[in-house]
Amino acid sequence: KQQQRQPLIEAHQEAAQLYHHILMNTKLGEAARNYLQERQVSPEMIERFNLGFAPGEQVLRSFFAERKTDYQTLRKTGLFIEDQAGNLKDRFTNRLMFPIKNTTGALVGFSGRLLHKSDSAPKYLNSPETEIFNKRRVLYNYDVARQAARKAKRLLLLEGFMDVISASQAGIDFGVASMGTSLTEEQIYDLQRVSSNIDICYDGDVPGQKAIDRAVSLLEQNGNFQIGVIQIPDGMDPDEYRRKNGTAGLQKIVKSGREPVIKFRLRYLRSHFNFEQETDKIEYAKQATKLIATLDSSVERGVYLKDLATDLDFDQTSLQEQCEEDRRKQR
Ligand code: GTP
Ligand code: MN
Ligand code: MN
Ligand code: MN
Ligand code: MN
Repeated sequence: KQQQRQPLIEAHQEAAQLYHHILMNTKLGEAARNYLQERQVSPEMIERFNLGFAPGEQVLRSFFAERKTDYQTLRKTGLFIEDQAGNLKDRFTNRLMFPIKNTTGALVGFSGRLLHKSDSAPKYLNSPETEIFNKRRVLYNYDVARQAARKAKRLLLLEGFMDVISASQAGIDFGVASMGTSLTEEQIYDLQRVSSNIDICYDGDVPGQKAIDRAVSLLEQNGNFQIGVIQIPDGMDPDEYRRKNGTAGLQKIVKSGREPVIKFRLRYLRSHFNFEQETDKIEYAKQATKLIATLDSSVERGVYLKDLATDLDFDQTSLQEQCEEDRRKQR
């Protein structure tokens, strides 16, 4: 099995080198170089993440043809699209390339981003599932983050590759991202091995909030973590936040912007109700006391019940009674 994997990994290493060379040293890479500069990705990060560019031409096909790489190996890399006659064409064209390593640090796939919005093609294109690339297992930056997380005693879970890179540029190396999909049991297992302290810092937009809610549940169900949520304001993602508020801004929010899960859950729940309507307020009150009832500390329950009463302008005693009743039912 290992012998079958090695040539595929080597092909990825060669492809990554070629894409990187094109980005750094050629006319073909000029637009992508400018793009990265506009996004304020430092040269150091371009090197650390070995970013590259796949131009419009069939660069991989030509490169591997010259090296006389075995056809069956090339097919299995996933780096090509095969037509009905069995001819191989580069899968990635006109894309900024992010090499993707597996949890043991072997280069097993790519994600490619279009430089400009398109209606006909997805923003990010990933390698297909291959013998070496399993999307369910990938955590971007895991090999570096595992070292950094041991020191920092925490992991940071981000939504996108650019967020991981942005965090790293701000000196935050314990960030990882899944491939834009919801967390899998495999990924949670690999996270748990590194740290039991994890903070979710997804995008501040509506899909991001939904994804946080799901990630919290998955982490609670499949692991044993202390979970925090870092809420990026104004619908921004961590990368946009860094560009707006600087490296220091991102450092600060990651260092001290951690809030307990219950706070996130209450805010997320509240966002589904319209307080102009009395029926909505009552329904929110009922669901919120149920959430608060899950807290084991009566001090904490007291704090959130007080906030809830103020927010709703409801009588705190009745909310308290409701919460106690919810607790009896939950037991
Ligand atoms: P930028 O626009 O480059 O800043 O990327 P982003 O990470 O902010 O993108 P977004 O928040 O839209 O998506 C988060 C993550 O979801 C990305 O990093 C990708 O992993 C994934 N993703 C986004 N768009 C696509 C897509 O069109 N196809 C696939 N397969 N994944 C995507
Ligand atoms: Mn280089
Ligand atoms: Mn997003
Ligand atoms: Mn984003
Ligand atoms: Mn972004």
